[in-house]
Amino acid sequence: MARFTNKSIIVTGGGSGIGRAASILFAAEGGSVVVADKTTAAHDTVNAITDAGGTAVAIEMDAGVEEDVIRTVALAVDTFGGLDIAFANAGISGGMANIFDTDVALIAEVLRVNVIGPYLMVKHAAPKIAERGGGALVLTASVAGIRSGAGSPAYSASKAGVISLAMTSAQQLSGSNVRVNALCPGLTETGMTKPTFDYAREAGKMDRVGRLNPLRRGAQPEELAKVALFLASDDASYVNGQAIAVDGGLSSSHPVTKQEYGRTAV
Ligand SMILES: NC(=O)c1ccc[n+]([C@@H]2O[C@H](COP(=O)([O-])OP(=O)(O)OC[C@H]3O[C@@H](n4cnc5c(N)ncnc54)[C@H](O)[C@@H]3O)[C@@H](O)[C@H]2O)c1
Repeated sequence: MARFTNKSIIVTGGGSGIGRAASILFAAEGGSVVVADKTTAAHDTVNAITDAGGTAVAIEMDAGVEEDVIRTVALAVDTFGGLDIAFANAGISGGMANIFDTDVALIAEVLRVNVIGPYLMVKHAAPKIAERGGGALVLTASVAGIRSGAGSPAYSASKAGVISLAMTSAQQLSGSNVRVNALCPGLTETGMTKPTFDYAREAGKMDRVGRLNPLRRGAQPEELAKVALFLASDDASYVNGQAIAVDGGLSSSHPVTKQEYGRTAV
């Protein structure tokens, strides 16, 4: 039996990248998916799902606006009879401005979408998931939230906040059978990173993309989505309050001179 048969699932940021891949994979495994995005791309993802025989509905919403999150949870409950899983994945990079060039409006917007968004989803989805006897929330953080070096100060602070939110939420949901984990992607080819990948391809420098991790490449969105599905599924029934890095091994090392497989270290 497919892992998500009879499961009602919300995916924010479902119009592109990791969220689109996860929406499609959830539906392919029997899930009924509310694809939520601030753009009309949510409808494109739903069309891809229904064309393949799956079940999904789209909603245009802003993940950082409380009324919109309430509307999204209500859509899942009203359409699919309840809620079992929420993947709070919508996020923005906010650019690469350093601390001295980041104005308060920019950091406030990054925190609004990246931290308040997942916070609102925990607040409004968890009680509905608990009503079904339990389930899971997966919040998309980033390797940028683990340590410096993978995004702007605003973005990194926001993603560290998501990791903390997963931990504190897991604790505050004690006894509810609702699990909360954070997914920490490394560099992944999506709408957010398109300029990086496009530039590298055009310049013939794809060998430099992701070269700091032991796998020496960036990820495809499906590689992240599959881990999100694992964390959302009963396969991860004892995984709770964790930040799971999916980064080709990037965050497993301090910065050192890399050893080359098959060569003697000097
Ligand atoms: N791509 C990477 O290398 C990478 C690395 C680490 C973490 N992440 C995180 O992964 C998540 C998904 O991003 P992606 O890489 O798939 O990028 P993406 O740009 O392809 O997809 C993000 C989606 O979120 C939507 N979105 C943005 N703000 C929203 C809002 N306020 N309300 C609703 N929807 C909104 C966008 O319209 C878009 O469809 C983000 O949280 C991002 O920070 C990505």
